[in-house]
Amino acid sequence: MKRKKLIVANWKMNMNLQQASILLHRLQERIQIHKDIEVVLAMSYLHLQPLSLQIDRRKFRQAAQNAYYDDHGPFTGEVSFSMLHDLVHYSLVGHSERRVKFNESLDDVRKKVASAFRNGVTPILCIGEQKDEHLRLETKQVVHDQLSSALLDVTPEEVAEMVIAYEPVWAISNGNDYHGHDIATPDDAKEMATYIRHQIESTFGKYAANSVRILYGASVNSENARAFLDADGIDGVLVGGASLNYHEFSGIVNAAYRSLHGIGV
Ligand code: 13P
Repeated sequence: MKRKKLIVANWKMNMNLQQASILLHRLQERIQIHKDIEVVLAMSYLHLQPLSLQIDRRKFRQAAQNAYYDDHGPFTGEVSFSMLHDLVHYSLVGHSERRVKFNESLDDVRKKVASAFRNGVTPILCIGEQKDEHLRLETKQVVHDQLSSALLDVTPEEVAEMVIAYEPVWAISNGNDYHGHDIATPDDAKEMATYIRHQIESTFGKYAANSVRILYGASVNSENARAFLDADGIDGVLVGGASLNYHEFSGIVNAAYRSLHGIGV
């Protein structure tokens, strides 16, 4: 089964609208339309509507970075998936920063995945181990538990549609220096993609396992992207810090094109 490559920018809580608009403008100048590569920009709620008027839909899709699981009600300050329905194709769900800094529980993440599907938004489910878990060699157990709990309420057909991003939390650059940060290797990414796909296959069957797209994220930049994109079972990357730099991010999309077509190394 041929899975389309997916490159996702996670802008996190960065840039005002004008800065985001300039970045989008620069990306649109540099990134070509590739029919076999999908490029997604996960931006602040505040930027979704105005940038939807500027974005070239042949090149990019918009994503939210989070949303609340109930559709409406007394939840001051929250935005629901039902509100995002017409605006975004994807949403990140369960990013480690949400889990760690905003105390999102396994149960919250499970409800968010279900709510995303209920409202026609495709979830990009983020999973990955913390540094202490990594040091205690608990990576697979943590990933297994996060995955099985997040997917409790979804069907095999839905799993086939969705995206799973493996992000080892200890390797995330936090926007500091995505060059030279402590980083996982492409072999680590490949091993985890295989592990995740096996788990999906045993619960949801072969079709779901062959269709679901698995991304690697954490300190990806234009120099190391190719090695991750070439790793078996990795269908794309989720990029934080380097996605704020148009030169870096267009370099990563270019690396995906070269990986797909076996150009250079
Ligand atoms: P960095 O690319 O800055 O390490 O961030 C990764 C990330 O958290 C993407 O969601």
